[in-house]
Amino acid sequence: MSRVLSGIQPTGGIHLGNYVGAIRQYVADQYVHDAFYCVVDLHALTVPRDPADLRAKTMETAQVLLAAGLDPDVCTLFVQSHVHEHTELAWLLECTASVGELRRMTQFKDKAARGGEESAGVGLFTYPVLMAADILIYDADRVPVGDDQRQHLEFTRDLAARFNSRYGPVFKVPAAAIPKVGARIMDLQTPTAKMSKSALSPQGTALVLEPPEVLTRKIKRAVTDTGTEVRYDPVTKPGVSNLLELLAVATGRGPEEVATGYTQYGPLKADTAAAVIELLRPVQERYRELAGDPGGTAALLEKGAAKARAVASVTLARAKEAAGLLAPR
Ligand code: TRP
Repeated sequence: MSRVLSGIQPTGGIHLGNYVGAIRQYVADQYVHDAFYCVVDLHALTVPRDPADLRAKTMETAQVLLAAGLDPDVCTLFVQSHVHEHTELAWLLECTASVGELRRMTQFKDKAARGGEESAGVGLFTYPVLMAADILIYDADRVPVGDDQRQHLEFTRDLAARFNSRYGPVFKVPAAAIPKVGARIMDLQTPTAKMSKSALSPQGTALVLEPPEVLTRKIKRAVTDTGTEVRYDPVTKPGVSNLLELLAVATGRGPEEVATGYTQYGPLKADTAAAVIELLRPVQERYRELAGDPGGTAALLEKGAAKARAVASVTLARAKEAAGLLAPR
């Protein structure tokens, strides 16, 4: 069975775009792959975070993943900082990476451009190395990531190949698994941009845990397009097409197909809101149960970390040995 691994940051709330684009795929993948999913709390520290909020969001993210259907008896779900081997391998990989290639990472360039490279955090700079460690330490075959992570994955492949050519065949070189077009959920206020945790307005982002009234309000206030025609055409009608995409995803049909029968935006919005609420209802219910028992989730995460460590420690030992570190006796 091939192994997949992905990481999800415990930042903001998990939104509909994450759920539809990534998490539902994680759930399906766990039954056909040896699947590892990691809540990457160390990556979240690359920007200053309120400690209590980070801790709460880490628990919340794990519980949303469980509520969405990740089964801890089927996959390996854990918190990154519970498996210290990741950061240790990251050091070996840092000694393999160059300043130039890290500086070329567009995510670093974008983030550093905002506050100036001089004051950008070192963690932001070395972020892709830790991500490479997350992946390589599990001998992952495939890494399901969004398009924005493609460059980091290419970098991971380069690092693995370089380490292997220097020290022998230590790492498996992983492939990216960028989801085929599929559903791409756009911001409700700016339908030409992907729904994102860092959106300008919270009105544009529908969260998985939001109460039905809030979801309804956000969808009813979604930006639509000039004219009144309901037609799936993301180029000339991005707002309406996004609603159709949502309705299609929530009802398991195609966006062109769901468009038929609508002549006005109002009913489309009402039906989309109702369908999204139905889609999320079981997830929200299950989440409420889990949230009432944080100790239960902590126990599941402890088991997940133990399973992860069993793999990670072997890979790390192999890498240290290959690099010439003297084994303790
Ligand atoms: N950088 C990824 C993101 O922001 C999160 C991440 C961290 C990740 N480690 C990973 C994704 C390992 C896949 C594999 O989305």
